[in-house]
Amino acid sequence: MAKFLPLTALWLAALVLSVPPGLASEPMHFYARPANGLALTPPMGWNSWNHFGCHVNAALIEREARAMVSSGMKAAGYRYVIIDDCWQGARGPNGNIHADRKRFPQGMKAVVDAVHALGLKFGIYSDAGAETCQGRPGGRGHEYQDALTYARWGVDYLKYDWCNTGGERPRTAYATMADALRATGRPIVFSLCDWGVRAPWRWGAAAGGNLWRTTPDIWDSWSGHHGFAIGMLNILDRQVGLAHYAGPGHWNDPDMLEIGNGGMTQAQYRAQFSLWAMLAAPLIAGNDLTHMDAQTRAILTNREVIAVDQDRLGIEGQPVYRHGAAEIWVRPLTGGREAVVLLNRGTQPLSMRLTWSELGLPSYLPVQLRDLWRHRDLPVATHAVRFHVAPTSVIMLTETPVRPGHSG
Ligand code: GLA
Repeated sequence: MAKFLPLTALWLAALVLSVPPGLASEPMHFYARPANGLALTPPMGWNSWNHFGCHVNAALIEREARAMVSSGMKAAGYRYVIIDDCWQGARGPNGNIHADRKRFPQGMKAVVDAVHALGLKFGIYSDAGAETCQGRPGGRGHEYQDALTYARWGVDYLKYDWCNTGGERPRTAYATMADALRATGRPIVFSLCDWGVRAPWRWGAAAGGNLWRTTPDIWDSWSGHHGFAIGMLNILDRQVGLAHYAGPGHWNDPDMLEIGNGGMTQAQYRAQFSLWAMLAAPLIAGNDLTHMDAQTRAILTNREVIAVDQDRLGIEGQPVYRHGAAEIWVRPLTGGREAVVLLNRGTQPLSMRLTWSELGLPSYLPVQLRDLWRHRDLPVATHAVRFHVAPTSVIMLTETPVRPGHSG
């Protein structure tokens, strides 16, 4: 008997250590919610927060929705027009939530209808706590009532934040809202936003989420941080090791795009778009779509990069090489192809060699590489290819093995 004790102790220690912070106190009767069948590829859309913050109103949302169509974003695959924090007014006498009457004089349903009339979908924001991060009414204690309201308005997507949740347990709080959404009978994509603090990749899908934020807010910068918000590379670094938690219907969310907001260079914005596609991340633009320059539009509507993001296998990419400022990321795609990103994190130009072993291929295999930003096939190669990668930028490629009988 004594022989077994140390083993038992070890097993118990392993169990305790494997429980992510915050879950130790979760009730044991939690059961996994069945998938809702939505978001089989990462959601694509636009969200008001990164550019407009709290300054949202009906006219603005409708303008952005129209610009999503006229700019070609809709044709490129963007669908969800998502209004973030600050749309809420007070609750009515029965506890029903209303839109702020000054900012939304016709109510929220009129805005939703206008967005739907453009062939787009509508997303809204709330919070699991008593108040949202900006001090508007939160969903706590009103989950079923709010879900019904959203469904009546025609909402297609809910982002659910985590401010002012003192004492709440994330897995159960999010599962309650997922149950409430499901009870409405309306298909509503459910986006969890606990900033990654309680390891939502471990329980987000079981709690009924379609996507979950993995980090604090993005800061429109290549690296570094700014209060709570962190730069693009800092977000990227925190995705390493999370790939196997993602798949069709349940995605890691490294936060929204900053492309077009002015804090980074065009090369750095191309890097964000490329890397987010490698991560099978939701592509949620965060700029003012009504004032986009041609370069911003070209980045956001690069269909070759979008096709990588939206690849139906839904396998997230991972780094296969990291040394100094150089990184190589690889993502498996349908049809036996792979997407590749060569990332130069530093401020000096880099010469980087992509070898077939990094791609998991035999070195003799002829491979067709295609540059997804230059929209050009490269000469068919074997073994390895050398690339010059400019400072703080990426090269993004797909590789397709050239099979016998096919010419490159
Ligand atoms: C949190 C979220 C952001 C945004 C704001 C709104 O910080 O992480 O994405 O929704 O709240 O207040």
